[in-house]
Amino acid sequence: MSEKNQGSKLEALVSLCKRRGFIFQASEIYGGLNGFWDYGPLGAELKRNIKDAWWRTMVRERDDVVGLDSAIIQHPRTWEASGHLEGFTDPMVDCRACKKRYRADQLCEELGLKLEFETGSNAEKKLKLPDGAKCPACGSKDITAPRAFNLMFKTFVGPQEDTSTVAYLRPETAQGIFAQYNNVLACSRQKVPFGIAQIGKAFRNEINPRNYTFRSREFEQMELEFFVKPGTDAEWHEYWVAERLQWYQRIGLPEGRLHRYVYGKDELAHYASACVDVLYDFPFGTQELEGIAARGDFDLGRHQQFSGKSMEYFDQDTKEKFVPHVVEPSAGTDRIALALLCEAFHEEWVPTSDVAGSQPIPVDYAQPMPPGCETRTVLRFAPCIAPIKVAVFPLLKNKPELVSKARGLYDALRKRWSAFWDVAGAIGRRYRRQDEAGTPFGITVDFQTLADDTVTLRARDSMQQIRLPIADVAAKLAEAIET
Ligand code: GAP
Repeated sequence: MSEKNQGSKLEALVSLCKRRGFIFQASEIYGGLNGFWDYGPLGAELKRNIKDAWWRTMVRERDDVVGLDSAIIQHPRTWEASGHLEGFTDPMVDCRACKKRYRADQLCEELGLKLEFETGSNAEKKLKLPDGAKCPACGSKDITAPRAFNLMFKTFVGPQEDTSTVAYLRPETAQGIFAQYNNVLACSRQKVPFGIAQIGKAFRNEINPRNYTFRSREFEQMELEFFVKPGTDAEWHEYWVAERLQWYQRIGLPEGRLHRYVYGKDELAHYASACVDVLYDFPFGTQELEGIAARGDFDLGRHQQFSGKSMEYFDQDTKEKFVPHVVEPSAGTDRIALALLCEAFHEEWVPTSDVAGSQPIPVDYAQPMPPGCETRTVLRFAPCIAPIKVAVFPLLKNKPELVSKARGLYDALRKRWSAFWDVAGAIGRRYRRQDEAGTPFGITVDFQTLADDTVTLRARDSMQQIRLPIADVAAKLAEAIET
């Protein structure tokens, strides 16, 4: 069986995402803005479902985690304390010949080289390009030395634009959590160990946004800061790695395409005791979805130092005082959306007439299509993640009794789930349109419905159809969608 090459798969997916309204280039009518994306009607639902699934698992279903929604712009001291002002940089180089700009490590990676340090130094700022480095665009070796570029977007608070009013769009949601740690602790009656979770936009002025939405300049994060007693970091870190891997499988990423990258001691930040990245096999390579780090007391400790406010916790049981350590699972919503789209995307051969009982066959790109078939594109999302859960079709649009019966069912279903109404075209075409949108169920109301109050329920993946009473539809759907 010959599979589609990964580059073509991504190309086909990008085109589907635009055509069906998952993802658009931001400001497309003005030529686009590199690193910014808009989510269309289906994409907005997909992202909402990812965030809801995360929030439900990480906050609502737990006794030991509470939520927060902090401001995007925080006091600039926040970023001094966090270290972002000084150290949140990427090494940037320019080709003097063609003026192209690169992230030095990515340029080296593209050339199969390794970024080096100047001899005798260990600071990131003293990086140097290895011999053999050249501009991938024009081939020139006349490239500047790497220099540190801060990734935070700057803005000004109020009408005056000078150094006293400079502020930053947050590059991560985490610092808002640390800054509110005391208030949340006081109001929530939580005890260590406990966590604060937040979902929200983050902004990084990436030197080279790339791989579709994978590395963007505006994106969303879903972060948990889980505060633990010093000395228990390792067990909680292990716990959260296992929890997070399970969550990815529940939303439809298979174990076989998920990986863990365990940081070596020499790769860890000086304050961290462990870090594991969760990776997924994207068409452009195996890349990070989430980082899970045991960060010690670095964050609360630094905010204590910079704000002068105590971040100490008093343990009522042991009468000990300590600055809690933190374990941080930090995920990117947009990367998860992209992984789910890549995972869901399939092309299959199916009989031209979508008759009950026909079986889809994965396309074999080395073979001609069998006679009597057509290619269907289908997004096999897990039902809990699918943007539209169910589509309702009256068999014929010019039969008012069918339309009104179907409309009644549609109105009832959409109170509970995102549902879609489609009266246009042959029923097979309507199924195909929903296959491409990733809708797991289609319901057809036909003449038999008028006689016995039953409908046809068609499953997207198997294309199998069953007949069931209208009264049983909601329970049947709930079984698949809400588990
Ligand atoms: N508070 C820790 C933190 O922000 P990070 O590894 O820099 O850690 C966490 O970011 C997650 O945010 C990443 O695993 C990724 O999913 C997402 N992310 C980071 N930079 C991104 C970008 N430029 N575009 C899209 N997602 C990004």
